[in-house]
Amino acid sequence: MRISVIGCGYLGAVHAASMAKLGHEVVGIDVDPKKIDELSVGHAPFFEPGLPDLLQASLDSGRLKFSTSMADAAGSAVHFICVGTPQRKGEYAADLRYVDAAFAGLAPHLSAGDVVVGKSTVPVGTASRLADEYMETAPEAILAWNPEFLREGHAVKDTLHPDRFVYGVPEGAAGERAAKALDEVYAASLSEGTPRLVMDYSTAELVKTAANSFLATKISFINAMAELCEAAGADVTLLADAIGMDDRIGRKFLNAGIGFGGGCLPKDIRAFMARAGELGADQALTFLREVDAINMRRRSRTVELTRVLCGGSLIGKRITVLGAAFKPNSDDVRDSPALSIAAQLQLQGADVTVTDPEAIDNARRRFPELHFERNVEAALSGAHAVLLLTEWPEFVNLDPKAAGTTVADRNVLDGRNALEKTRWQESGWNYKGMGR
Ligand code: UGA
Repeated sequence: MRISVIGCGYLGAVHAASMAKLGHEVVGIDVDPKKIDELSVGHAPFFEPGLPDLLQASLDSGRLKFSTSMADAAGSAVHFICVGTPQRKGEYAADLRYVDAAFAGLAPHLSAGDVVVGKSTVPVGTASRLADEYMETAPEAILAWNPEFLREGHAVKDTLHPDRFVYGVPEGAAGERAAKALDEVYAASLSEGTPRLVMDYSTAELVKTAANSFLATKISFINAMAELCEAAGADVTLLADAIGMDDRIGRKFLNAGIGFGGGCLPKDIRAFMARAGELGADQALTFLREVDAINMRRRSRTVELTRVLCGGSLIGKRITVLGAAFKPNSDDVRDSPALSIAAQLQLQGADVTVTDPEAIDNARRRFPELHFERNVEAALSGAHAVLLLTEWPEFVNLDPKAAGTTVADRNVLDGRNALEKTRWQESGWNYKGMGR
């Protein structure tokens, strides 16, 4: 099939390269010429394991092209909209300006029967509104909503082998045509037995925000338990192991620590609350305020624990922060708890050095006032406290003995409960975990 992908960020670039891998002819379109230049020569503009190889293979096959011109979408049968929906400045609601611009820009290039597929995470009701608008500008195109559930760091696998497909389609023959087109796009994955659920627009939009809200709630639940464990002298990691063995609960996403961040969970739960308010259903989601509050408290708690580790004052203390990305295997620093904690410590008088295998450039752009050091040994040198804030394998597997010879004081705060506590203690470290 001929496919266009509009928006080539974390979602669109992976989607475009993956669709070409599945055998389709794909054009990826973005307004950012730098991004398009890089993608066109096989450079991924962000760190995502497996993406450079996939990109190169798809470009070599001749089935993948990139462009800055929306006119190049003409001739494709299916058009995926993959632009961002960030949080609006000073508000909880999602900023839909990129979605609106993408749909408006695409409309003049559509032909009768084209299927336009929204993948961006949007407030419920957006697809119906856009479908109404299309009735005026491109009445013969069909709109579908096909939310994406990929995780950064696993984006290639999640796109090629997702655990389910969700199609939000209009009623009647148009809906059947849209579902058929998506079945054709995803034929390879569907043949592996991936389930597909066909539903109305609103339910499809809600599936995405409900899933992210549930994940955020699960993390904040275990972080609330961590607060209790700290107060009661218990261990949240053992608690999570024990409750997680009940398969109704499950152990995944029960890792207590410094909390969730990134470009999705924090802004999605806030946009969900804002939308519920507009719909007069705000009470249904008041619990998400608490989920957000518990999550933000983890950051201030980490600063306080560091102060205690440093003997009661942060002023002039050298602190090494291991990790800047919001999670391992990513260079994404959007709403990264690690960076926000590093910046807080610096503001409170500490001398903070941050190291990360991939995210230093992005982190420096956000927080130029912090010190960054690529070499881990150099970053550790002279530290009064070491904080593990992003659980990259190279940090988790650090040798505590060797690390102990570089620092000034052997104080370690394990913000992700990922280090082997006894190994660090046996090497003379004063170990502090989260909720243990
Ligand atoms: C999240 C969802 O997991 C995806 O399904 C969804 O498609 C995506 O948002 C999106 O909306 O685009 P992602 O933001 O890539 O994916 O990251 P997650 O793996 O969900 O991690 C989010 C944050 O939670 C990270 O900061 C991570 O460190 C933290 N986390 C995760 C915990 O603190 N504890 C856990 O047990 C798990």
